[in-house]
Amino acid sequence: MTISAPGSNQIPATLIPGDGIGPEIVDAVTQVLAALGAPFAWDVQQGGLAGIEAAGDPLPGVTLDSIRKNKLALKGPLTTPVGGGFRSVNVRLREEFQLYANLRPARTLVPGGRFENIDLVLVRENLEGLYVAFEHYIPVGDDPHAVAISSGVNTREGARRIVRYAFEYAVAHGRRKVTLVHKANVLKALTGVFLEAGREVARAYEGRIACDERIVDACAMQLVLNPWQFDVIVTTNLFGDILSDLIAGLVGGLGAAPGANIGEKAAIFEAVHGSAPDIAGKGIANPTALLLAAGLMLDHVGLTQQATALRRGIDAVLIEDNVRTGDLGGSSSTQDFAAALVQRIASSRT
Ligand code: NAI
Ligand code: MG
Repeated sequence: MTISAPGSNQIPATLIPGDGIGPEIVDAVTQVLAALGAPFAWDVQQGGLAGIEAAGDPLPGVTLDSIRKNKLALKGPLTTPVGGGFRSVNVRLREEFQLYANLRPARTLVPGGRFENIDLVLVRENLEGLYVAFEHYIPVGDDPHAVAISSGVNTREGARRIVRYAFEYAVAHGRRKVTLVHKANVLKALTGVFLEAGREVARAYEGRIACDERIVDACAMQLVLNPWQFDVIVTTNLFGDILSDLIAGLVGGLGAAPGANIGEKAAIFEAVHGSAPDIAGKGIANPTALLLAAGLMLDHVGLTQQATALRRGIDAVLIEDNVRTGDLGGSSSTQDFAAALVQRIASSRT
């Protein structure tokens, strides 16, 4: 279903409301993007439980076709049904569109938390490593699970591609430094190839973007002791999964953590959080994470001014207007937040 036909300056994009709090926060985000004058022509498609209801599949063919055509999507959280043989929708999307880069920026939004003025970006390789899940058991005696074996796969080309992405991101966004995070002291082949390729890519940016290296465990400690030393961090799939949650924790948790999945064939923007069934339908979900994801989407299509206006508006609503949802200690509803942000954007445009 197309809400508005793409005109000459319009950018067609797939919009997946998703499950649980998805439709509520997506509604808030489309109101705010309209107030910004963002030129997206939304093609609304279903996924998750809504996809099963509509087409018997959590990732219906029409939804995939729409993303394939538009190469751009904003997605609410999707409930992955437990059991029933459904594979994770997120993994299917990553594989289908070869979304090799997972971008997770984290910035302090509300002062007074444990850490002030955090502004760092984690770039996670999204397709390789231990996530290929080549796993099996070897039975011994009467124990069928006596030995578990898992093989990770990292390719030189995959490592080059993700590190190049991190450096290009740094160049495009005025960042100073990229940190390569690895465990090449122990996993000499699996993460050694990442480090080797990363150093090689870094040489092409010498004099423009600084590069340093950390072993992942030391990096975790240093992120807690002194997060301000980091700028852009690039790492393999599993380490990126763990460190990006650590980093989200530094800035106040899930309600404010956006993510982007980027590949050559498409880019899909979403919140890091899930469908929050415990608060769905109550109108109290925090739309900030999905709003920040929409900001990444504006950055991605080159609408930097609108992205900046969106982020400034969010800051103003949270800090100056003191409009916050329950997860951030306030009592405002999703719609109160959207209305306050629309108001801020309208007053800054006049
Ligand atoms: P969740 O992120 O949905 O919720 C965890 C906790 O955080 C809950 O207490 C929830 O109320 C709260 N929360 C999350 N987002 C919030 C927001 N915007 N505002 C205020 N509070 C918020 O994680 P959970 O419960 O583990 O997963 C629920 C479902 O979501 C599962 O089916 C899971 O598979 C799916 N999921 C989907 C993701 C995606 O589509 N990218 C990512 C993570 C989970
Ligand atoms: Mg994770």
